[in-house]
Amino acid sequence: MIRVRTAMEAVPAYVAGRQGSFADAVNQDLTQLASNESPFPPLPSVLAAIAGAATDVNRYPDIDGLLLRARLADLHGVDVDQIVLGCGSIEVCRQAVTIAADPDSEVVHAWPTFPEYATITALAGARARRVPLVEARHDVEAMAEAVTEQTRVVFVCNPNNPTGTALTRAELVTLVEAVPSWCLVVVDEAYADFADPREFGSALELLGLHQNLLVLRTFSKAYGLAGLRVGYGVADVEVASLLLRARIPFGVSSIALAAAVASIDAGPELAARVATVRTERDRMATQLTGLGWEIPSSQANFLWIAMGEAQATAAARRCAESRIVVRRSPGGVRVTIGTEEENGRLLDALGSPADLPSTRSAAP
Ligand SMILES: Cc1ncc(COP(=O)(O)O)c(C=O)c1O
Repeated sequence: MIRVRTAMEAVPAYVAGRQGSFADAVNQDLTQLASNESPFPPLPSVLAAIAGAATDVNRYPDIDGLLLRARLADLHGVDVDQIVLGCGSIEVCRQAVTIAADPDSEVVHAWPTFPEYATITALAGARARRVPLVEARHDVEAMAEAVTEQTRVVFVCNPNNPTGTALTRAELVTLVEAVPSWCLVVVDEAYADFADPREFGSALELLGLHQNLLVLRTFSKAYGLAGLRVGYGVADVEVASLLLRARIPFGVSSIALAAAVASIDAGPELAARVATVRTERDRMATQLTGLGWEIPSSQANFLWIAMGEAQATAAARRCAESRIVVRRSPGGVRVTIGTEEENGRLLDALGSPADLPSTRSAAP
């Protein structure tokens, strides 16, 4: 056996939403409600861009992804040098911890939240300070109090995975203002497109005021390109230039770059799909609540159903028997919003809490 870094002892294996191979999923005709993907196939215009880019794959992609960065800069009204790309936004998360965290420094994040923050922190040899959610929401005051001289990064998942809850604009401002300017605040807005703009305040609005802010977005969710792996961050130019130094060179493929640009071009069509998902989400929340399930208000493309361990195990098994994959997460089960038909299947499979063992846990 090789000798490995001591820090590896604290690094958990990645647990995918969908277990088993992709071929299994196709062969078994699974209803995939475990990974918060888009239920819609790629748009014809995006497929055409993918086919066009495929003819050049004997060449490396544009290392700077300039065309896509210019389009994103336009979209968000920022300078092109403020945009960094990654092989999924997950790569930009890694860049953030890589540039900021020394071994033995600290990274603050809520719990439960996107588990990759903990993994990336452990990989860097840094320590995670988990701040428990309160009533499935970020505890802004406790997050601010958890920041010490050793803290290098604060992750804020907004809307939060797995609970779907979002900070109000005022809460976000309070948190960002409470963190010292030498500490990087990463606001992960992977699900922001599904949030109600009247209630949800994007951290993009705060960029000009805080040079320690990094806002993450992805093409994997609302844009439906999870299989192509492209995400991005928006930050102050100095932070962005540091992140660039930590990137995987050529980490975003030419096909992903072309598909992302075509997806920005298809903005109105994709916005209509997002609106459909939001309508379905609200319908599902009403139906599930009517059946007796407890669901925090979700601003994302998934719902989090509070359950105790035994109940969650039984619920996931029951869904699996109907060939529906859902995601177990601490204190409950997370279900992605699929098509109307898929969601109907989920409702039938899940039934009501009275049909399942009732051990409701207090977390999160
Ligand atoms: C909160 C959050 N951030 C980031 C990601 C990763 O997205 P990407 O596919 O862009 O790497 C996910 C994926 O599920 C997520 O839930």
